[in-house]
Amino acid sequence: MKVKITDTTLRDAHQSLIATRMRTRDMLEIASDLDKVGFYSLEMWGGATFDAQIRFLNEDPWERLREIRKRVKNTPLQMLLRGQNLVGYRHYADDVVDEFVRLSVKNGMDIFRVFDALNDIRNMKSSIEAVKKYGAHAQGTICYTTSPVHNNDIFADMAVKLAEMGCDSICIKDMAGLITPHAAEDLVTKIKKKVDLPLDLHSHCTSGMASISYFTAANAGCDILDTAFSAFSEGTSQPPTESMVASFAGTPLDTGLDLDLLNRIEKKVNVICNRYASLFAPSVAKPDAGVLVHQIPGGMISNLVSQLKQQNALDKLDEVLAEVPKVRAELGYPPLVTPSSQVIGTQAVLNVLYGERYKQVTKETKNYVMGYYGEIPHKISDEIIRKVVGDAKPITCRPADLLQPELPNAREVLAKENIHASEENVVTYAMYPEIAIKFLKGEIKEEQIAPVKTEKAPETKPAPVVTPSEFSVEVDGEEYTVRVSPLGAITAAPAATFDEKKAIKAPMNGMILSVAVKVGDTIKEGSLVATIEAMKMASEILSDRSGVVSQILVKNGDMVSSKQAIVVVE
Ligand code: CO
Repeated sequence: MKVKITDTTLRDAHQSLIATRMRTRDMLEIASDLDKVGFYSLEMWGGATFDAQIRFLNEDPWERLREIRKRVKNTPLQMLLRGQNLVGYRHYADDVVDEFVRLSVKNGMDIFRVFDALNDIRNMKSSIEAVKKYGAHAQGTICYTTSPVHNNDIFADMAVKLAEMGCDSICIKDMAGLITPHAAEDLVTKIKKKVDLPLDLHSHCTSGMASISYFTAANAGCDILDTAFSAFSEGTSQPPTESMVASFAGTPLDTGLDLDLLNRIEKKVNVICNRYASLFAPSVAKPDAGVLVHQIPGGMISNLVSQLKQQNALDKLDEVLAEVPKVRAELGYPPLVTPSSQVIGTQAVLNVLYGERYKQVTKETKNYVMGYYGEIPHKISDEIIRKVVGDAKPITCRPADLLQPELPNAREVLAKENIHASEENVVTYAMYPEIAIKFLKGEIKEEQIAPVKTEKAPETKPAPVVTPSEFSVEVDGEEYTVRVSPLGAITAAPAATFDEKKAIKAPMNGMILSVAVKVGDTIKEGSLVATIEAMKMASEILSDRSGVVSQILVKNGDMVSSKQAIVVVE
C-alpha cells in the first residue's frame, strides 16, 4: 500500500523554524509547482499563520487562502484548527466557530485537522460538526503525549470516539517529537485495529526520532506522513519530503512521487528559504536531546528562559526545569502544548521565584483549574484546587456552553469603526479584536527581515530593522508565542513618603493592569489590591493585612519592579 505525503512547507515548517513569517508572495512562487507533485494534501493555513499574518506581515489570511487556491487546482488544501479556539488562543462561541468554518470552506479549504490541547473532544465537537455540515473533510486529531495517565490504549479509544463523531480521517499529532519508533508502531497498530479510517502521523524532528518513527508507523499501516521540503525540514520542523520519498522508493510503500520533480521544486524552496536566513536560530536546527530526558519541549524551554530573564532570575533555570514535571503532575498531566504548556511553565516559574509553591497563581492557572480550558486528563487533588481557586467549584460542562453568541457584537463594532464588514472581516475581528482593528484600518506595517550578520560590519548605513516584538520560538506546541517585549522604564520611586512596613509590594517585575482599591477603602487580608501582568500572564496582588488604604503609589499601565510599593495600608 502506497504511503501518502502531506507537505507542511507552507504552514507548520515555517511556523516551527522561523516563527511563522513566510510571506504569501513567496508561497505563490511555488504553489502551482506543489500542485503537480501529487501530495495527499498541502498544509498551508491555520495554526499560528492567521495571527502572524495580521500582526506582523500586514497580510489578509483569507486572501492567502484564495490566492493559493487559484494556483492549486488538484491537491486538497489543509489547515490546522484548534477546535473551539479556531486559529486563536481562547474558546470562541459556537456562532464564530460555525462561521469561520463556513468561510474557510467557501474560500477554498478542503481538509480541517481539528485538535484540542487537552484532548477534550467536547472542545472539538462544534468545529467537526461544522466541517461536516459544509461538506469538507474532518481530520480528528489526537495530541500525543507521555505521562503516567496517558497510554496508547487511551489514544486508540479516542480515535474510536473521533470516528463516531463523523471524522473522515485520524491524525496522531506528536507536537513535541516525543513518539518513539516502537510507540508509533504500537499506536498505529492499535488504532488501525479499531478504526477503519485513513491515519496520519504528524511529528517533529525535535528529539531526532521522527524519521525513524515515520518508518515504523508506515510499516504498521499508517497511511499518511507529514513532511516538509528539505530547506524547511529537520530541527523543530518535519522530516524532509525528498528523503522520505526516497526511503520508500521501490518498496511496497513507494509514495509514487517523482523525486526529480521534488528536487526541482526544492531549488526554488531553497531560494525562498534564504530570504529568511536571519530568522533561523541555530538552536532549533539540531535535535534537542534534553527533550528525551525531561520531556519539556524546546519551545517551552525558550519561553521559560525568556520569563526568567524578565525577572532577572536566569540562574533559577535548573530549579524551574525540575519544578515543571511536579506542577504538570499536580495539575493533572495536560499535554505540554499551548495553552496548557504556558499555564504549567509560568506556574513553575512563580513557584520557584516565590520560594513557596502556589503562593502566587496566575489568572490562567485559575481558569485552567476551574475547567475553563476543558476537561483535565487526571483529577487534581482537593488540596491543590483549594490552593489555586479557594472555595470556587470547577465547572463540569463544555466551556463554550457558557459563551453567548459573539458575531452580532463584532458586526456592530466594525460598523462603528467604519470598517467594511465583509463576512471574513467580521470573523477576523471576532477572533482578534484588538489587532484586527489595527489591521483592518491599515495600521499594520510589514515587519522587515533583518539581513544576515556578516563578519565585517557593512560600510553603508543599514536599513532600519524592526526587531520582532513577538517570536514564536515555538517548536512543538503549534502556537507557542514568546514575546520579547522590553520591560520598559520602571516607574520612578514615588516622591510621597510612607512607612515601608505598611506597603503592599509588587511580587515581581511587570505592568500594573488595574488598581482595585482607592484611598479610604477598608480592606481585609486577602483582598484584591491590583492586577499585574508579568510574563504575559495576569496575576492578582492580594493584601497581606487588614486596614485602610492611605496611599496609592501606582496607576494603570505603570511598569513596576519586584518589591516596589503599590499601595499603603494603615
Ligand atoms: Co506540528
